Amino acid sequence: MTTIAIIGPGAIGGVLAAWLAQDATNDVTVCARTPFDHLEVETPNGVIMAHPRVLTDPREATPVDWVLITTKTYDAAGAAAWLPALRGDHTRVVVLQNGVEHVERFSPYLPVELIVPAVIDCPAERTAPGRMRQRGHSWIIVPDSANGREFLPLWSKTNFDVTTDDFTTRAWAKLCINAPGAISAILLQPTGVIRVEPIPDLVRAMARECIAVGRAEGATLGDEIAEQVVEGMRNAFPDALNSLVADRMAGRQMEIDARNGAVVRFGKKHGIPTPMNEMAVALLIAAQDKQPNTGQRHEK
Ligand SMILES: NC(=O)c1ccc[n+]([C@@H]2O[C@H](COP(=O)([O-])OP(=O)(O)OC[C@H]3O[C@@H](n4cnc5c(N)ncnc54)[C@H](OP(=O)(O)O)[C@@H]3O)[C@@H](O)[C@H]2O)c1
Repeated sequence: MTTIAIIGPGAIGGVLAAWLAQDATNDVTVCARTPFDHLEVETPNGVIMAHPRVLTDPREATPVDWVLITTKTYDAAGAAAWLPALRGDHTRVVVLQNGVEHVERFSPYLPVELIVPAVIDCPAERTAPGRMRQRGHSWIIVPDSANGREFLPLWSKTNFDVTTDDFTTRAWAKLCINAPGAISAILLQPTGVIRVEPIPDLVRAMARECIAVGRAEGATLGDEIAEQVVEGMRNAFPDALNSLVADRMAGRQMEIDARNGAVVRFGKKHGIPTPMNEMAVALLIAAQDKQPNTGQRHEK
């Protein structure tokens, strides 16, 4: 039996927990902030149900083989509160979040050799606690390390493609797509805004900053990625909402710091100017501070 704990059963965590629980050799626990009775996930392969153990207090947790962290990036401290109870001698901690700072974000709480960073692409949303929709093909990339390779067999009974690859390249490539998503969030417009001139030029400019900074960090990123990001937006459903704009529209906190903030931060480190991403961070922080949200608003 492989014991797995998932911290943060929202859109991503709920889908992962439900799929992992389909394998009788996995013993799945979810560490939740908002409790629910069971998981029900609408997937492209039909509805799947799961009845994992649901904990809401770290004092109830016991050591597991694998911890999967699927909270939003700005909830790292809350997620980390679960780790002392979940960690045993051989526990590995997989961080499945957007951005490029998976290891840095959890290094204050764990030895870095236990942290497995993961890039996840899984179009998913939560409709209620314990109720998720997985809208399409989903994949996970982990580094080609001993821990990364040992992570792969967990997924044999799921509809996820889970593989090893050059993590730095894949994480920055995803950030090149996510960073220009800030334009939609600033304008409160869905992805179809790409059809309005001069939005494609702004998207290219933001992606090019991310490409330059990612290369300085060791990612292998071609110039053509900027055009691919524009094309990807043109080919998406015009009414699609990326998570930044969806979070802003819903009055939720946004992952500004982990996305555009990271481009600016690593740009400064390498002396690469990132004025477009810098402006996006400033505008979105101003917008976030203005919205009538009762929750926490600052990421750091
Ligand atoms: N959704 C997507 O399609 C997608 C795709 C690719 C990557 N990602 C990335 O995946 C990460 C997770 O995104 P998401 O969309 O799944 O977010 P989400 O739906 O907001 O889920 C986050 C979950 O974490 C829970 N949480 C927060 N603090 C916690 C704590 N201290 N203990 C336990 N649970 C806690 C939240 O609890 P509550 O139930 O109380 O809110 C919520 O259930 C993000 O970095 C996102 O950028 C998302």
